[in-house]
Amino acid sequence: MTISQTLNTTIRKIPAWPIYWIVAAWTGWMFYLAATGKGGGPEPINWLEREYGALALKLLIAGLLITPLRTWTGINLIKFRRAIGVTTFFLILAHFLVWAVLDVQTFERVWMEVVKRKYVTVGMVAFVLMVPLAITSNNWSIRKMGPLVWRKLHKLTYPIVVLAGIHYLWLVKGFQIEPIIYMAVIVGLLAVRFTWHSKKTA
Ligand code: HEM
Repeated sequence: MTISQTLNTTIRKIPAWPIYWIVAAWTGWMFYLAATGKGGGPEPINWLEREYGALALKLLIAGLLITPLRTWTGINLIKFRRAIGVTTFFLILAHFLVWAVLDVQTFERVWMEVVKRKYVTVGMVAFVLMVPLAITSNNWSIRKMGPLVWRKLHKLTYPIVVLAGIHYLWLVKGFQIEPIIYMAVIVGLLAVRFTWHSKKTA
């Protein structure tokens, strides 16, 4: 038995549902730290926004890594993809609500910021594109839509992760290496996907 076969045997026994609870618990704990002043320093609301956004971006990339990981190593984490996708959506919803309700606070200002600030605009587009993916992340939708249409819709993941990477690149002030590394990883993973796709359809 190869290492990946051994690992897959173990992975098959690990349920996906704890991912929902772990991310929900982390989200609640971070909110508690910010709300009580135990975390986040002088600007707990901005800290919370950024912590939620940072984990959401990591989870988006983790979701994108699952298929290449299986192709390169044989390790199959596909069963966790839905839990990762759905928790990412709710984390971005929390990210947006902390910003809109606690930071910006009025609808007019939210609208103004979304229209005027480029990094907020692309973040918002990415978030809106995630809504149909979150709504259809269930077996009922796959049956209703049919696997082909469903898979086509879920290819929206690609522009979403690119917009999220641009969102991070555009929001930082001055030269910072971290958003560039994230964008390089995103572009690299998508390049691999499209190369495979073009080979498959060639
Ligand atoms: C796919 C959707 C999104 C992802 C993955 C995402 C991710 C991120 C990341 C990684 C950061 C920086 C974290 C850091 O500094 O360590 C961030 C910051 C931020 N995001 Fe998002 N975001 C998304 C959507 C949105 C939306 C919809 C809004 C508001 C409409 C938004 C507003 C902000 C703001 C205001 C900041 C903080 C900027 C600052 O440091 O002052 N984001 N986001």
